[in-house]
Amino acid sequence: MTYYVYVEPDPERRAASGEAYAGHGFDVVHDLADLAEHLSRNPETLLVVVGATVDLEAVLTFTAYQRVQRPLLGVVLLRPTVEPDVLSRAMRSGVREVVQELDCEGIRHASARSVDLSKALSTTMRGHDDARTARVITVFAGKGGCGKSVVATNLAAALSAQGTRRVLLVDLDLQFGDVAIMLQLPPARSITDAIGMAGRLDETGLRSVLTAYRPNFDVLLAPASPAEGEHVGRDLVTEVIGVARGMYDFVVVDTPPFVTDQVLAALDLSDWFVPIVTPDLPTLKSIRLTVEMFDLLEYPRERRLVVFNRADSQVGLTVEDVEEAVGAHLSVHMPSSRDVPVSVNKGIPITLDNPTHPVSKAMRRLADRCAGVAGSPEEPVARRRLFAFGRKR
Ligand SMILES: Nc1ncnc2c1ncn2[C@@H]1O[C@H](COP(=O)(O)OP(=O)(O)OP(=O)(O)O)[C@@H](O)[C@H]1O
Ligand SMILES: [Mg+2]
Repeated sequence: MTYYVYVEPDPERRAASGEAYAGHGFDVVHDLADLAEHLSRNPETLLVVVGATVDLEAVLTFTAYQRVQRPLLGVVLLRPTVEPDVLSRAMRSGVREVVQELDCEGIRHASARSVDLSKALSTTMRGHDDARTARVITVFAGKGGCGKSVVATNLAAALSAQGTRRVLLVDLDLQFGDVAIMLQLPPARSITDAIGMAGRLDETGLRSVLTAYRPNFDVLLAPASPAEGEHVGRDLVTEVIGVARGMYDFVVVDTPPFVTDQVLAALDLSDWFVPIVTPDLPTLKSIRLTVEMFDLLEYPRERRLVVFNRADSQVGLTVEDVEEAVGAHLSVHMPSSRDVPVSVNKGIPITLDNPTHPVSKAMRRLADRCAGVAGSPEEPVARRRLFAFGRKR
């Protein structure tokens, strides 16, 4: 059984370093096709070191795919030189580290860090395999001001159903998160307080950084100052959601108006994807691009619940126009109402303050869909993934 693989198409490089890798327990393969075959035979593989001559585009596609299929697998990428644009693209697709190919010590350290992380994640996921597993719901839009935070806070409130379900709301808008203001919560603790626990976060640790809002309804706030958000890594987000899954029935994630690394981490773990669209062309264009990215990343279409916000605005776009532009059916229509900004300014979600309001009803319909009340598919994606892990051991 091998846990580590080194891929290198170039015979000279393989001859120069293949033996050293083999000495450290690595299997050596020639290309990504061999690697794919190797992984299907050795699903417990934890680390792939990708040699400097493997085609960059192919590695990035491979990594983005594996991130969904095998979240435990770490990819360390070697390159002849480490260019900043390669680095940022690599990180975006899920490569854990990029190292100069001759930097042996750097490679060793990057590999060790990646294996440690995989093991920590595996423990977290295994720990919750039999436990109740929260459904993770990520609310997003390609543009600012569409109503993401209004939907995320109200959806979380609707899901909580007066505390009969356990809900965690996570504010991943790490620069300009609005959840604290929308729920009138003191910004005393935030996700940055979890940074020191990265790699070994447990339920007690996570609880210590949460803010209680209502019974069984907790919030993980964004940092109070925008600069702090930069230090929250994608792996920490994965870890936070992994731990939260064992503690709650639902984890609702609010996001910034663009897809960040941290957002990708949440999306990778999501059971439901909730895109918000409003009837204006720039929003439709950006959501279309986001949806295309989702197709590339193979997030299942049947797991997308599109919210049509301000659905009643008379702006010359029909429901059909919007569906055509988004390339998806609109699951929930939410009307425009001045009561929404009033509720935001008041600091109480309209769903809690005025449950019979049409906006509150729309949010309850969305919550019902997420909870499976309205005939949604039974087996959440996350469960399938966890079972897949169970089989591998
Ligand atoms: N259905 C609605 N009717 C009236 N106003 C709305 C509605 N939905 C959202 N708004 C208003 O639009 C503004 C933006 O909403 P919100 O903050 O939820 O958007 P966002 O997508 O989270 O924005 P950002 O990208 O800046 O985080 C708020 O002032 C909110 O009150
Ligand atoms: Mg927002």
